[in-house]
Amino acid sequence: MARNFKLRPLERGTEGIHEKSGTIDRREFMRMSFNTAAGLITTAALGSVGFASFLMGQSSGGSSDSSIKFYVPKGSDVWYSNMDKQPMTMQAFEDEAAISPTGMAGAAGLWAGLPIIATYVPHEENKNKPLEAGLPRFQLMDGYTAGGAYVGSGYEIEEKEEYASLNIHDNMIIVFARCPHLCCIPGWQLVSNDFTADNWLPGGTDSGGNKSFCICHSSRYDHTVIEKNTARNRSNGQEFDFIGVKKTGGPAPYGMPLIPFTVNGETIEALPDFLDWYTFCG
Ligand code: FES
Repeated sequence: MARNFKLRPLERGTEGIHEKSGTIDRREFMRMSFNTAAGLITTAALGSVGFASFLMGQSSGGSSDSSIKFYVPKGSDVWYSNMDKQPMTMQAFEDEAAISPTGMAGAAGLWAGLPIIATYVPHEENKNKPLEAGLPRFQLMDGYTAGGAYVGSGYEIEEKEEYASLNIHDNMIIVFARCPHLCCIPGWQLVSNDFTADNWLPGGTDSGGNKSFCICHSSRYDHTVIEKNTARNRSNGQEFDFIGVKKTGGPAPYGMPLIPFTVNGETIEALPDFLDWYTFCG
């Protein structure tokens, strides 16, 4: 399973974009050295110790570490800020979900150098209640390319043996958090706006909150909708199908792929079953 990943900087011409979005703007977010590959590489070039060196060092070394760790951007006051670099536990999400109006909780993290977002949804509690109640649960839906071509169904995680490790469990999913637009790193609830408000609507539309949000050009993703879609390996151009969360708005061509995981005791550990799915950024 030795596969090395390399980060690439943003395309030329995007560095000067300054768009206000929520309570912090893009320039401020860049300063926190979290949201873009360009930001990461700049930080590394300056010799800073933090996300950049952690990310790039482990990814080039092909780490076999399966544990997922919280990652907290500098200056951020997200709920898990005092758990920075500590292993993700189910208890941490359950505690946060218990004080959320929707019972949902999400956090950014790192797995063997790869950026991830873990999202807790009270699926078991709500899955048999009527959708109109507006109570969040995971939904398995059809996936379509940006051109409208049908790709497949989220139900394949229940129907096909090859996707068995992606079956919903422990009220949680984990996604590989690189935006398929220009490879920024979306955050969960890192900014305050309509897309990240703590409320939920069914159907995988762009309405309602609790989306992950890419601050670079405002792509949004609904982590409660699991679909099948098609992406492209950035290095060799080959297309591949994957199971992931739905893109609900913005310029990204498709959503972000799932990462299968297990819960070992209390600790959340990722499984390297679908490494090819994480190649759309290089
Ligand atoms: S990189 Fe452009 S929307 Fe995410």
